[in-house]
Amino acid sequence: MILYFSGTGNSEFVAKKLAEQLDDTLLSINDRLKEKSLKKVYSDRPLVFVAPTYAWRMPRLVEQWIERVTFSGNQNAYFVLTCGGSIGGAGNYAEALCKKKNFQYMGTQQVVMPENYLVMFSVPEEPEAIATVMRAEPVIEEAASLIKSGLPFHKETVSLLGKAQSGPVNALFYTMLVNDKKFYVTEDCIGCGKCAQVCPLNNIKVDEGYPQWNHKCTQCMACLNECPRSAIECGMSYGKRRYHCPEETWK
Ligand SMILES: Cc1cc2nc3c(=O)[nH]c(=O)nc-3n(C[C@H](O)[C@H](O)[C@H](O)COP(=O)(O)O)c2cc1C
Ligand code: SF4
Ligand code: SF4
Repeated sequence: MILYFSGTGNSEFVAKKLAEQLDDTLLSINDRLKEKSLKKVYSDRPLVFVAPTYAWRMPRLVEQWIERVTFSGNQNAYFVLTCGGSIGGAGNYAEALCKKKNFQYMGTQQVVMPENYLVMFSVPEEPEAIATVMRAEPVIEEAASLIKSGLPFHKETVSLLGKAQSGPVNALFYTMLVNDKKFYVTEDCIGCGKCAQVCPLNNIKVDEGYPQWNHKCTQCMACLNECPRSAIECGMSYGKRRYHCPEETWK
């Protein structure tokens, strides 16, 4: 079973490619979070968790959801993390999670996809984004082939920098930046409610025609990027193009 979380479509794209190549089923963690569901999960095939990288680790909300849900059937767990550049030492934390869950850890695969963190960086123009996704395809195919053969992913050595990024820097990042204090809406808002719809944490309420954020944000970037009027801003997002995993690559 392929279980995925995604803010702007990159991890959803990778999950769907894996499901296609493995002829396996998909489960959306976004939907489970939105429904506040901790329903048991049964899979007779390996568990393949696909998610973006947040501060060189799997997003905390995904890790917490896995911790809280009961999984039965096949207990082999693979992790596929999409990122804009590097997952640092994320694999060590996925392995520790597996110990807690009594899963057999089968490794963590990094898949470099287009950057989506508008709060700090620019997102690529469409042609560059498409080229990045195309470069990711053979990495996804290789991961699918290892999963199909029941083999673990190749183990990468984690540098000291990677350990620091996924450890203290990750902790600092969550303390300082992962909140919705700096989100605001401009007068371009038409009150359509799409931001509330796409938020996996039901953190947005559209009241009197404008969104309000309710302090449970994980900075997945869905509201910012999916607003049809680009009316949501946060941090350094002003004037930048918005991003969703390019439609053209899904065909
Ligand atoms: C809050 C946040 C933190 C991020 N941290 C990292 C990071 O540490 N390393 C990295 O390479 N990319 C980082 N990114 C980029 C995303 O991991 C990357 O664009 C990912 O493919 C987005 O997946 P999605 O479209 O499924 O949400 C970050 C993005 C966000 C929103
Ligand atoms: S998605 Fe954009 S236009 Fe629609 S309510 Fe939210 S901020 Fe306003
Ligand atoms: S408020 Fe926006 S950025 Fe925060 S979790 Fe919801 S959709 Fe993601």
